[in-house]
Amino acid sequence: MIKVLGTGSYVPEKVVTNFDLEKTLDTSDEWIVKRTGIRERHIAAPEESTVSFSVEAAKKALAVAGVSPEDVDLLILTTSTADYQISSSAPIVAYELGCRKIPAFDLNAVCAGFVYGFSVAAGFLESGMYKNCLLIGADVYSRILNWEDRNSCVLFGDGAGAVLLKKEDGPSNVLAYDYCSDGSGSAHIRIPVGGSKMPYHSTENLIKEDLYFQMDGKKVYEFTIKEIPACVKRLIGKANITPADLDMIVLHQANIRIIDTVAKDSGIDREKFFVNIQKYGNTSSASVPLALDEAVREGKIKAGDKVMMLGFGGGLSWGGIILQW
Ligand code: ACO
Repeated sequence: MIKVLGTGSYVPEKVVTNFDLEKTLDTSDEWIVKRTGIRERHIAAPEESTVSFSVEAAKKALAVAGVSPEDVDLLILTTSTADYQISSSAPIVAYELGCRKIPAFDLNAVCAGFVYGFSVAAGFLESGMYKNCLLIGADVYSRILNWEDRNSCVLFGDGAGAVLLKKEDGPSNVLAYDYCSDGSGSAHIRIPVGGSKMPYHSTENLIKEDLYFQMDGKKVYEFTIKEIPACVKRLIGKANITPADLDMIVLHQANIRIIDTVAKDSGIDREKFFVNIQKYGNTSSASVPLALDEAVREGKIKAGDKVMMLGFGGGLSWGGIILQW
């Protein structure tokens, strides 16, 4: 079985409120709160990055778990804003934490990253290959957003969350998992320029906006409210439980209206959905572990609880897992 021995999170000090955004953008606190539920977000200081965020969140998770960095034998960092395009960031995080020369790699499933990463980690642990896995979700979207695009920049914030997962004896407590992707919707969330298809150096007539994060919010919204309730139903069926048996749902914090709709369409008590979007906005890969850490610290998750984690985003990629805590 997989034991979550410790959780930890990190958000930068600087808070940017909706009122702050009103000063530079054609937007309003009223619009952002009504359409998204977001009131403020945290933004990285110039010297911070995904690696420094990850190290801070991981240190906290390790301290809670009582596990030293030398005892970690696998590190997975889920992110879509790695420090560099090459090399990956996970080995730097492992090095800075003081881990041994362990396997460490980045996993990019955009906002679904942490939830994808959870099952990758669980698979490694349940196979017996590794015992202690540090799984981190970290993103610094403030560096890739177009701060002149009100359609996207008001939605995101920066942060990181981490869990220390330990393999213990006993039957599997992963009650269900369900993961999907649909590349036909890839263009709905994208940074067009900078990858191997359109590298910066060979792109003629470069359009500045194409260097930044772009999202067709309406299309992503429609995809989400169709696919996530269906995913929830499959998870509940695979776990052979009823919606009432679930104790806590940690859904990607992208929009409060998505959380409300998923609760209603899945027949799950809305009170069981953890919500902190008002404080952080959408922190991409950090969203689920940041919420998980707060839920644990607030005593809202206890041993034996059935916890469903769900993510969705660029790819398009989505999925979830039900873990008996
Ligand atoms: N302030 C004021 N007005 C705005 C703003 C803003 N920040 N942004 C858009 N508007 C305007 C639009 O221009 C539009 O004006 P118009 O009617 O004159 O054209 C109007 O508000 C309505 O715009 P919509 O796009 O219809 O607004 P909607 O209610 O759909 O909300 C939102 C937009 C919040 C983006 C929503 O569609 C959404 O949450 N989508 C899903 C996003 C998501 O879940 N992302 C997760 C994955 S992210 C990842 O993977 C990295």
